[in-house]
Amino acid sequence: MDLEALVGAGFDLDASRSHAAHGRFYTDPAVHEFEQERVFAREWCYVAHRSQLPNRGDHLVVELAGRSVVVVADGDGHRAFHNVCQHRGHQLVAESGHTPNVLVCPYHAWSYALDGRLRGAPHARDVPDFDRSCVSLTPVGLDEIGGFLFVNLDPDARPLRDVAPGFEPRLRSMVGESEHLRLASESRFGIEANWKVVTENFLEAYHVEFSGPAHQALGNIIDPSTYRFEIDGRVIEYTAGGGAPEVLPYEVHGTDDFTSTAGVPFHQIFLYPNMTFSVFPGTNMVFVFDMSPSGPETTAERIQYFTLDGHLQRPSDQAEAFISRELNHEDIALVEGVQRGLRSPGYRPGRYMVDAAGEAGWGEQFVHHFVLTHLRALGVVPEA
Ligand code: FES
Ligand SMILES: [Fe+2]
Repeated sequence: MDLEALVGAGFDLDASRSHAAHGRFYTDPAVHEFEQERVFAREWCYVAHRSQLPNRGDHLVVELAGRSVVVVADGDGHRAFHNVCQHRGHQLVAESGHTPNVLVCPYHAWSYALDGRLRGAPHARDVPDFDRSCVSLTPVGLDEIGGFLFVNLDPDARPLRDVAPGFEPRLRSMVGESEHLRLASESRFGIEANWKVVTENFLEAYHVEFSGPAHQALGNIIDPSTYRFEIDGRVIEYTAGGGAPEVLPYEVHGTDDFTSTAGVPFHQIFLYPNMTFSVFPGTNMVFVFDMSPSGPETTAERIQYFTLDGHLQRPSDQAEAFISRELNHEDIALVEGVQRGLRSPGYRPGRYMVDAAGEAGWGEQFVHHFVLTHLRALGVVPEA
């Protein structure tokens, strides 16, 4: 698939001249397949925080690019494997859970140690030249940054720290003790929109002023005069001072928050392809969005809220309710409205709204940068 087939003739590598990508980029099953193979089967994708697998034998089953992967805590750290038995191919683990020592296949009970090596196979002694030591689960790349676990199906993938060198220092400046976070709450949403539409909506603030009461309240959480952003390859970072406490959509009392690390109350980090990490003013939580394609025109969105003690104290619980219920509700309606429009034969993509220098915080240069980063990952635009 070439550039024009993917995004249409109006897309320009220069954001200030570019039209948005055409509708097919967000609706075509062939684009979805292409992305599954080129991106979700090759890039680092977030799966969980280490605190979700605290004990040896805890395991998590996740699906990535249509492949099932099992992430296991082996006592020293974590490992990931393709979730398939090496006998006759039954899926090894049906669901996330805990196992004391071995993963056992439900079909003929071949068992695997937590490092993936075959431990036992019934009647193996009677089978001539059966060498148990030659059999092990097929590993999947696993990387950990600041306690967050990422997997990559590509055995030749470069480490995440090389692919996105700006991510770790920026995450550390957001929350220095991120290894010690614990999951306090999680919400999942099935969205009738392509994952890129959902992601792009997250990246731009152009819509915030205009699109509903929760968005107006969102505008109040920052001090716009202190809004800053940096585009750094696969990472985009946004920071700002907090808005006046009396107009925040939750009650702020203390200073018990993570903002001390970098000294900014509002802090968001986007990591390509589909993850965002955020801290809101006056709260003591970090929340993580990930937006995975569940089909050409549908997204599985997950929001996780982390704190140091695994509980949401006031006002973080109010902020969580605001984000998951009110704000996300408005955003889902917006992106589903976009998706319906992208199918229309009457849609001729408009210009990205970007100021001449590409420096205005309201601008859509972030959306353009995301699309460009994606086109590079897909291999249709050369790497910068
Ligand atoms: S397929 Fe797993 S033990 Fe036979
Ligand atoms: Fe929004």
